[in-house]
Amino acid sequence: MTNQVKIFDTTLRDGEQALPASLSVKEKLQIALALERLGVDIIEAGFPVSSPGDFKSVQMIAREIKNSTVAGLSRAVPADIDACGEALKVADQFRIHTFIATSEIHVNNKLRKSQDDVVEMAVAAVKRARQYTDDIEFSCEDAGRTEIGYLARMVEAVIAAGATTVNIPDTVGYTTPTEFGGIIRQLFERVPNIDKATISVHCHNDLGLAVANSLAAIENGARQVEGTINGIGERAGNSSLEEIAMILQTRHALYGLNTNINSKEISRTSKLVSQLCNMPVQANKAIVGANAFSHSSGIHQDGVLKAQNTYEIMTPESVGINKNNLNMTSRSGRHVIKHRLQELGYKDTDYDLEAIYSAFLNLADKKGQVYDYDLEALLFFDQQKH
Ligand code: KIV
Ligand code: ZN
Repeated sequence: MTNQVKIFDTTLRDGEQALPASLSVKEKLQIALALERLGVDIIEAGFPVSSPGDFKSVQMIAREIKNSTVAGLSRAVPADIDACGEALKVADQFRIHTFIATSEIHVNNKLRKSQDDVVEMAVAAVKRARQYTDDIEFSCEDAGRTEIGYLARMVEAVIAAGATTVNIPDTVGYTTPTEFGGIIRQLFERVPNIDKATISVHCHNDLGLAVANSLAAIENGARQVEGTINGIGERAGNSSLEEIAMILQTRHALYGLNTNINSKEISRTSKLVSQLCNMPVQANKAIVGANAFSHSSGIHQDGVLKAQNTYEIMTPESVGINKNNLNMTSRSGRHVIKHRLQELGYKDTDYDLEAIYSAFLNLADKKGQVYDYDLEALLFFDQQKH
């Protein structure tokens, strides 16, 4: 089995469909270019049949993007597949991603078809998509709640029909890591032709488990992960791709798996997506939150000043942030104040550390966070006294 994990980004499709306002064609292209720079393998640009605007943006992205495969989504019906093929055919390399639901809940209540009919529709969809390209992805919507025997039958049938990637979504974020990893493991055990396709996963975050479930799937043989930047998406969102990429990079010795992600582009891409989508990133969000590389307690600050890896498992530089941030609060020790003043250009002989530190603590007790300009004001007032 390959040690390369493909990263499939659906910020512009699953992410965008959850936004209060749609992105313009230009904004989508700007995000697609950032994703290409980041090194994602596949960019899902949209759902071409859904609106003329979506068709146009998928086409524009397909035309401009050269180093990532551009994909479009389609239900397992001819009109959707044809719209996808038409929008994407201007691309150097493209993928048609077609899907149908497989869980009993969806098959009985939404599709109102028999299981046999659904397999037939899936196979027909894959065959139709093959008239446009050899790169076909098929998704079993709500796979997380699908009976394993039927799921295995569907996976086998679509691979036989020509699907080169089969995606197993946990559409409603219902499964747990042990369960979801088990679904992937059982598919490898039950589906005889499974090695002819890449097994992909697409996890939603309703129980906060999207990244953990994706990782469990990788541990059991999945070699494509789908998700979005900053984890934006339907309801509680999708798997955060920056987290998946940094788990595989930081824990390379554990997994031995690689991606094509240029991690130094992560922060920049996250900020762009947050700004254009008008979706702020929570401060304590892993990898890209404002506090992800901030240290507040005096013990931690002392540690990172002595050796960065005492409290940082990856460097801020590795995700494209210039440096970590030592918050100056009443928990900070003298060494942090001294270090900050040094960075601001002051020599030890310019001030009395004990006097400045005691004034700093008084201020920090009143104010909470002390900033550079506060520190410089303390220094100025201290110098006035002499
Ligand atoms: O969550 C889901 O099941 C999807 C599919 C269309 C892949 O977004
Ligand atoms: Zn989804």
